[in-house]
Amino acid sequence: MSTLLTRPLDRVSDFPAIPEGWAYLDTAATAQKPRVVIDAITRGYGETYATVHRGVYQRSAEMTLAFEASRRRVAQFIGAASADEIVFVRGATEGINLVAHSWGNGLKAGDRILLSTLEHHSNIVPWQLLRDRTGIAIDVAPLTPDGRIDLDTVEAMLTPAHKLVALAHVSNVLGSVLDARRTADLAHAVGAKLLLDGCQAVPRIAVDVAALDCDFYVFSGHKLYGPTGIGVLWARGEILDAMPPWHGGGAMIDKVTFAKTTYAPPPARFEAGTPHVVGVIGLHAAIDYVDSIGLDAIHRHEAALVKAARDALSGLNSVRLFGPESSAGIVSFEVEGVHPHDVGTILDEERVAIRAGHHCAQPLMEHLGVPATARASFGVYNSEQDVAALVRGIERVTRIFG
Ligand SMILES: Cc1ncc(COP(=O)(O)O)c(C=O)c1O
Repeated sequence: MSTLLTRPLDRVSDFPAIPEGWAYLDTAATAQKPRVVIDAITRGYGETYATVHRGVYQRSAEMTLAFEASRRRVAQFIGAASADEIVFVRGATEGINLVAHSWGNGLKAGDRILLSTLEHHSNIVPWQLLRDRTGIAIDVAPLTPDGRIDLDTVEAMLTPAHKLVALAHVSNVLGSVLDARRTADLAHAVGAKLLLDGCQAVPRIAVDVAALDCDFYVFSGHKLYGPTGIGVLWARGEILDAMPPWHGGGAMIDKVTFAKTTYAPPPARFEAGTPHVVGVIGLHAAIDYVDSIGLDAIHRHEAALVKAARDALSGLNSVRLFGPESSAGIVSFEVEGVHPHDVGTILDEERVAIRAGHHCAQPLMEHLGVPATARASFGVYNSEQDVAALVRGIERVTRIFG
């Protein structure tokens, strides 16, 4: 394994689902799970299971304590001012939909929001649905030639009509890292809020929402080495306090009568129904795992793998690389004249797992002028050997397709 990690990582014992000799290069889609997360989930169902916030019995009280301890851990992990600012959702997709439905329904015709060309569909479609409901307008910021959101143009585009800027902190296709602090300053200068889609950032770079000065931050647990079905919406306390509920049901109320219902304060107001109890427990274990390695070390490790991959692939005539040199953990490319699905299939025969497709970013594909790309994305468990296997596989692709 790479020496850039601060502690030695035994891939076989830490990641039981990665067999020897398999290069898993699809962490941007979902991360493999460390044993500590699997153990936490097994214990959560096999030993300590009960519902939360409702039971009067000891087991439920203990599970509630563990559940709320996870919320505090998430708050600390991303630099939130209070655990009450942490809303558990199913994932980034649900977090963005929550903001679009609750906060967004306060927008009206004439208001504008600004997205970018490289957004994931989950940071496009919820805003289009909001546009259909309210008549707001959507503007799309262009990219620099190397595939970063062009903040000089963002600055020129923003007007007082803009109420929200919603951008990926790290692109899931290009790996480009947004200068989030500058973006927050630009948004706030016209009175707009900033939402960051942190799905690809949280597993790769240390995130501190206070230092970034954003207003909303969303991410998914499964990309952070945690379980699927659990994610986080963070919003500034005063914004969350003023937001109406979006889902109604148990746990989110203060008092219910048929004449009138009043709602619980955040975060409960936004967590209707029985939550993903064990998912929340697993997320806590995932954050502990990531912190035990350290995000600065993870970032250095992935940056070194990206550099090695880009250096090797740029030496192959037939390969076109997308995105900036200094991308975070993600490299998209095409092999000239070969459909990315064929690239993916041949790499699979070589025991290299990459993603091939539009990556839920069709407007970006259109901008790049391709129907799809091949994407290799790295995680803590990858090594230079995985990069070498990728390169060998692509050399075989070029031999097969001449
Ligand atoms: C940048 C980005 N945003 C949002 C999402 C959606 O995440 P989820 O499907 O976990 O809700 C993804 C997942 O690929 C992503 O990469």
